[in-house]
Amino acid sequence: MSRLKRIAAWIEDRLGLGKSMQPMMDHQIPRRTASFFYVFGSAAMTALAVQLVTGVMLALVYVPAADMAYDSLLHLTFVQPLGWFLRGVHGWGSNVMVACVFLHMIQVVIFAAYKYPRELTWVVGVLLLLCTVGMAFTGQVLRWDSDAYWGLGIGASIMGRIPFIGPEVVHVLLGGPIIGGEALTRFFALHVFVIPASLIGLLVVHLMLVLKNGVNEWPIAGRRVDKKTYRENYEKQVEGKRGVPFWPVAAKKDMIFSACVIFVILLCAAIIGPIGPSGPPDPGIIDTEPRPDFLFLSLFAVMALLPPHLETAFILIVPVLAIGLLIAVPFLSGDGEKHWSRRPVALIVLGLVVINFVVFSQLGVTSPWSPEMKAWSGTPTPVEYVEGRTPLELQGALVLQNMQCRNCHSLDGEGGRRGPALDAVAARMTENQLIRQVLQGHGNMPAYGGHLSPPEVTALVSFLRTLNGGGIRPRARPSIMPAKPGGPSAAPDVGR
Ligand code: HEC
Repeated sequence: MSRLKRIAAWIEDRLGLGKSMQPMMDHQIPRRTASFFYVFGSAAMTALAVQLVTGVMLALVYVPAADMAYDSLLHLTFVQPLGWFLRGVHGWGSNVMVACVFLHMIQVVIFAAYKYPRELTWVVGVLLLLCTVGMAFTGQVLRWDSDAYWGLGIGASIMGRIPFIGPEVVHVLLGGPIIGGEALTRFFALHVFVIPASLIGLLVVHLMLVLKNGVNEWPIAGRRVDKKTYRENYEKQVEGKRGVPFWPVAAKKDMIFSACVIFVILLCAAIIGPIGPSGPPDPGIIDTEPRPDFLFLSLFAVMALLPPHLETAFILIVPVLAIGLLIAVPFLSGDGEKHWSRRPVALIVLGLVVINFVVFSQLGVTSPWSPEMKAWSGTPTPVEYVEGRTPLELQGALVLQNMQCRNCHSLDGEGGRRGPALDAVAARMTENQLIRQVLQGHGNMPAYGGHLSPPEVTALVSFLRTLNGGGIRPRARPSIMPAKPGGPSAAPDVGR
């Protein structure tokens, strides 16, 4: 024991860590703030620590490559001993951390802790919230299952609507026009390097600000914040008997609550298990009913329920407005009353935000995920299009139906409008161009190369070849890569 102490003393003599921690431990706080209302911030930090440890462990096994991510997740979940538990802890740790951050913010608003001199602490706190949300979103994408795939698809189409620079933003986000390996690599980099580094840096600043300006005192009705006298009054509240040292009086409560938080995370992971994966990512499966994680459910519900012509305005204006307003809070009301009974507007606004979040999250569980895309998947192929076809062509019509191409393409005026109508596609494209379009995708069309077997492609294309809008001969259209007869994927060009 004494040897251990000597080693500790040796290190302390050189590093001086204990000495520099001393002011943090000893700093006096107002007696009433050593309360369980003040524990949510430290609990969020505890959850963050859990995330860092489990995140590093997951990264040891996870493969951030589009064709292996999903399999490495399955490996983690089903093969690696206790891998499922590790994934569960990381997933639930994320939810619990978000919950703690929200509770912390709610407490700060109710106690008006953002008022002078803690405006900057609030602003840094808002940035920390954005980082936390960013972690939750990028983490959900790393699951690389069908929820992640379509979640990202929706996210990208939202970004694509930004006027003028939309397509460029999508390109930067996804590394290309479609969701592929580049997108996963980018989200991996964001999730493990960029956002955590920002988060930890901001957290240090946040803590320094808390230390510098003191823990917010318990609000008392009638005691107003006046920028001239505030600091002097605060000093009086932590002096002598009226204050208590942070360690161990308040820290004890922080530690008790943090222990509960860790317990809840472990319990959820053990009983409910890991979150997802929800089936392999596959552009051909549009029937997955993907749901975002709980944090984004409310946003998702708003998007699903909003009339389509309002979506773009909502997407572009509301986030900017919301973040701007949030940052502006301490500047709109930086002094005056702190007690909740004297701040009805602040509390009503808080109440409305919380109620909206809860109600829309609830709606998010049941609302159709994307009315635009779900609408056509069940529409049968019109009879005229399949009458008198060869078995191979009929087989192709089935593929078209099963792969739900009509979510984006119409036949006989029925179907999605994201891609061109296919009624006369054979009049526009040669067989090779059709094959390439299906295998490689193009523009906003996903590539089906990995999701269709060669015979399915052959059947599909032979069906597409019958869609000539009433016998117009195909006219080769200009293409970036001219189709070479006899090329790698080309079948012999009959009928041309
Ligand atoms: C997510 C929406 C979407 C789905 C699903 C989809 N496509 Fe497309 N498709 C598009 C878009 C967008 C284009 C136009 C892209 C481009 O080439 O610029 C397109 C273009 C095409 C074209 C070329 C048409 C022309 O006139 O240029 C063909 C052929 C085609 N798709 C076939 C299919 C088939 C077959 C399926 C099902 C296996 C399918 N598509 C599924 C969106 C989709």
